[in-house]
Amino acid sequence: MGSVGRLYILYDLVRWEEKALYEAAARKGLDVRMLDSKDILIDLNGGMLHGSSVCDGSGTFLQRCVGYFRNLHLTAALEGKGYRVVNPFQCSVIAGNKLFAHIALVRNGIKAPRSMLAFTQDTVLKAIDTLGYPAVLKPTVGSWGRLIALIRDRDAAEAIVEDREHMFPLYQIYYLQEYVKRPPRDIRAIVAGERVLGAIYRYSGDGRWKTNMALGGRAEPCPVSSELEDVCVRACRAVNGEVVGVDLMEDEARGLLVHEVNPTTEFKNVARVANQRIADEIVEYVMQGGG
Ligand SMILES: Nc1ncnc2c1ncn2[C@@H]1O[C@H](COP(=O)(O)OP(=O)(O)O)[C@@H](O)[C@H]1O
Ligand SMILES: [Mg+2]
Repeated sequence: MGSVGRLYILYDLVRWEEKALYEAAARKGLDVRMLDSKDILIDLNGGMLHGSSVCDGSGTFLQRCVGYFRNLHLTAALEGKGYRVVNPFQCSVIAGNKLFAHIALVRNGIKAPRSMLAFTQDTVLKAIDTLGYPAVLKPTVGSWGRLIALIRDRDAAEAIVEDREHMFPLYQIYYLQEYVKRPPRDIRAIVAGERVLGAIYRYSGDGRWKTNMALGGRAEPCPVSSELEDVCVRACRAVNGEVVGVDLMEDEARGLLVHEVNPTTEFKNVARVANQRIADEIVEYVMQGGG
């Protein structure tokens, strides 16, 4: 351990997870630093500048920035300089975008909810006619359940497309999905390399259809069956991930469907109800150099 040099935890917001990762690394006696992305200034041709030059060319970066675009571009710049970043750029690109992730999952034989891509009101309506009502519309980039819409009928579909036409062009990429018939819960599993470190069921709060903890969901431990472990590890690999949060739904007929792979995953609730050592195990995985 320690062969990968100093461990930098990149952040823009210090959440429970960033503190837990820092404390886990410090407990192991590692040379660990918190690095605020807002203080970073990178010379793309020469050395890296951060106040008085923090990096000497060695070191490993745990990418924990919440801001998607910042996360992606910072990872690109660091990898360009030859640093190892967890997760790697290829993972941030693919898993950071639900449509790209979907493509990678299906290509690798992992079951995912039936989904469609469209760009105009006409084609969105055709897509939903094929998927059936209710359908789900998701932004390709986003989290915490934000801007994910349940479309119950044609009037709602037309209204939503009309609204989206006034938004940033990214929101005019219509990623549509069948509404999966599942229990009122989904599964969040934390994967590091070839292992699932812990998993929870997330039950929706207040009768809502979305099960995100950020929307008041409730967590219970989820046993890690060999099937769950296999699907999650393959999903992680499909998006070039190292440490990710895999979200799955239990379809009545098809079994486990993966609907998201989170590259900067939250794991506070998994730690609370399923595995208290999860931050330690993530740090151990990273310090072993992955793989
Ligand atoms: N196709 C679907 N069918 C039924 N429920 C869904 C579907 N897609 C998402 N959900 C619900 O919405 C939640 C948020 O969706 P998700 O794709 O994970 O986006 P986010 O990145 O915002 O968490 C899921 O955890 C699940 O509870
Ligand atoms: Mg999710």
